[in-house]
Amino acid sequence: MADSADNPIDFTHLPHPSPVPDAERERAIANPGFGKVFTDHMVTIEWDENRGWYDATIGPHGPLSLDPACAVLHYAQEIFEGLKAYRLADGTMALFRPEQNARRFNHSADRLAMPNLPEDAFVEAVRQLVLVDKAWFPSVDGGSLYIRPFMIATEAFLGVRPAKQYKFLVILSPAGNYFKSDAPAVSIWVSKDYTRAAPGGTGAAKCGGNYAASLVPHANAVRHGNDQVCFLDAAEHRWVEELGGMNLFFVFDDGTLVTPPLTGTILPGITRDSLITLAREEGLTVCEQRYGIDQWRVDAQSGRLTETFACGTAAVVTPVGKVASHDGEFTVGSGGPGQTTQRLREKLVAIQRGTAEDRHGWLMRLA
Ligand SMILES: Cc1ncc(COP(=O)(O)O)c(C=O)c1O
Repeated sequence: MADSADNPIDFTHLPHPSPVPDAERERAIANPGFGKVFTDHMVTIEWDENRGWYDATIGPHGPLSLDPACAVLHYAQEIFEGLKAYRLADGTMALFRPEQNARRFNHSADRLAMPNLPEDAFVEAVRQLVLVDKAWFPSVDGGSLYIRPFMIATEAFLGVRPAKQYKFLVILSPAGNYFKSDAPAVSIWVSKDYTRAAPGGTGAAKCGGNYAASLVPHANAVRHGNDQVCFLDAAEHRWVEELGGMNLFFVFDDGTLVTPPLTGTILPGITRDSLITLAREEGLTVCEQRYGIDQWRVDAQSGRLTETFACGTAAVVTPVGKVASHDGEFTVGSGGPGQTTQRLREKLVAIQRGTAEDRHGWLMRLA
């Protein structure tokens, strides 16, 4: 289904005829918040079962024209990614492990019966778009350009089968610092009524449907006074899986870290993978193994568990201070950020901002 790697995609550049005026853009990027402001341009690439990928364009960001019968609107054949362009200390911009997003995108595509996009085309689309709209890089301290690649099924057909036409897009959104200061601890609500992903389902894919299904459990968590929802496994309602948009790590008093294994029901986070590498480099033992909700409570109360943190592209590393459910609540460690959480966060942020040595070649500098 994929274009071969020896057939690289050339992008046609169609500059926006009336981009946002400089003064308006400057105002927008001074306080962008998250996901509300979009840049002048976007990437589009079409796919058809006879032609493969074609018409790669970087053109004006704007509304799409879709037939109301197109498959994405009915059967949710949609996948997406989320990554950021960072500003380095020397002023250049860089992407963090974008090839990992490209790879995960294709895994999601496989699960949703969608065509693969060559990894180098994915990365090139992101790279060129960020350079075209680099004036949109937020002026706020700690800001970044959030990058949203996605693919939708565009064929107008109401039968339930994989569509024969798709559109790949990339849009950009200037994002402020996720937290004003150091990451505050979040409180989480363990959902016992709703699950996120069952064995054999789409939990390991980044498809829109997973997030639609998480909205009610998330609203429940907020109604109970918590910041985030935490999902348990669908079979036994016992094993801790992940939050709505972040993976979890547990830190023990002997320095060991535990994180739920990638058995198909959680999203394989790129932050998760990077932190496993950084922690092991420090000499810490990291076990990818199941961890039960009851054990979490017992270990937090005995002090054997000293920290819990969540991680993902949006908030990097976030301490979990309080855990609540219908069975009551408990506090983890001091209820605030622990030492290991803070240290790993600082290490990762230093690599992403170019202030620490990039020993693994994770940064892709943009000219
Ligand atoms: C469900 C879920 N888990 C985990 C993550 C963290 O993944 P990453 O570190 O690649 O951002 C995300 C964010 O993309 C997510 O949506």
